Amino acid sequence: MKKLRVALVYNAYTDAQPDDKSDTGGLRDLRQMIRAIARGLRRLRHEVVVLPLAGDLSVLQRKLSRLRPDVVFNQYDDVVHGALYEMRVAAFIRMLGYPMTGSPALALGLSRYKHMSLSLLKGAGLPIPPSTALIERLSDIDEHKWSFPLIVHAAHEHAGIGLARDSVVGTKTALREKAREVLRVYKQPALVQHFLKGREFNVGLVGGRRVQVLPLAEVDYSRLPRKIPPIMSYAAKWIETSIEYKRTGVVCPARVDAEMAALVGRLSVKAFRAVGGWGYGRVDIRLDEAGQPVILEVNCNPCLDSGMGLARAAEAAGIGYPQLLRSILKAAFEGPPYDLRLPIFIPNANAAKGR
Ligand SMILES: Nc1ncnc2c1ncn2[C@@H]1O[C@H](COP(=O)(O)OP(=O)(O)O)[C@@H](O)[C@H]1O
Ligand SMILES: [Mg+2]
Repeated sequence: MKKLRVALVYNAYTDAQPDDKSDTGGLRDLRQMIRAIARGLRRLRHEVVVLPLAGDLSVLQRKLSRLRPDVVFNQYDDVVHGALYEMRVAAFIRMLGYPMTGSPALALGLSRYKHMSLSLLKGAGLPIPPSTALIERLSDIDEHKWSFPLIVHAAHEHAGIGLARDSVVGTKTALREKAREVLRVYKQPALVQHFLKGREFNVGLVGGRRVQVLPLAEVDYSRLPRKIPPIMSYAAKWIETSIEYKRTGVVCPARVDAEMAALVGRLSVKAFRAVGGWGYGRVDIRLDEAGQPVILEVNCNPCLDSGMGLARAAEAAGIGYPQLLRSILKAAFEGPPYDLRLPIFIPNANAAKGR
């Protein structure tokens, strides 16, 4: 690959408050990850300019038109809370005419609408959790026949936000209570699904036109006290002092037979494609009571922290961190170019000229 000028764009919104007071690591972790990505890209001999996105989009537009990068490495995400809608930034970057890493705006937007993306997967013939339903008002609960236990999500959140011990419910009264809390506190619909008790896998994917399935990772709940439901809750993901965090592990590569690994991999690629994912992704899968894999969600632009998640799965396949970044960059140039060089209607948006 020739030497590229890479603009590494990330979300530097610093005023945000974490959901939980004990959770102060978000911004620090993010900055550390951005530094690791910049280092990895420089090791590949690319020129890297880090662009923190803190002000409005016109500032980003000005910076990009001055810099004229060959590609934007898009790390705009709301991991530090408060900055919503990754899709807007992705659409904006493409409208300005730059190739961009990761998924396009549509796929990023869909990730925020779990019920929509699950409906899409179901329409594509892929398995989703039984009883998946959107509860927009409490009276919706009476319109369904439920098979308990159920899990109650905040329909537009991600990264475990809104998921706690009481999110898994065994009675209609508990369901009503939790749904009421989601509607009131998160001011969004509740997504309710049958709770699958089986093994849980994270499936890392890399590539553009050809997607490579990385070795599976399995979430290990075996050390979790029985009274705590085995889920990747907010605490399990982020609160280092919680029992959930301390007693939930990840095994990568997962101990799983070749047939199951192949099936899970195939489903993951299909799901990633169905929601329009590109470049790299992570699909969460859980086995049902019959041992059959079911898709929980597709994560487009998942976390690229080194040593965990996608990067750890890549390592298990012998793909080092810089090589992973190289595949992600390569995929950015395999994407459909039809939305580049469109005439657009933003003043001074001539960054794409002559490209
Ligand atoms: N239907 C389900 N059955 C069993 N566990 C679930 C189900 N849905 C979610 N979970 C658990 O909750 C976690 C988070 O759910 P997920 O849909 O992946 O949302 P998030 O965007 O917060 O990661 C999963 O990793 C899994 O442990
Ligand atoms: Mg998830």
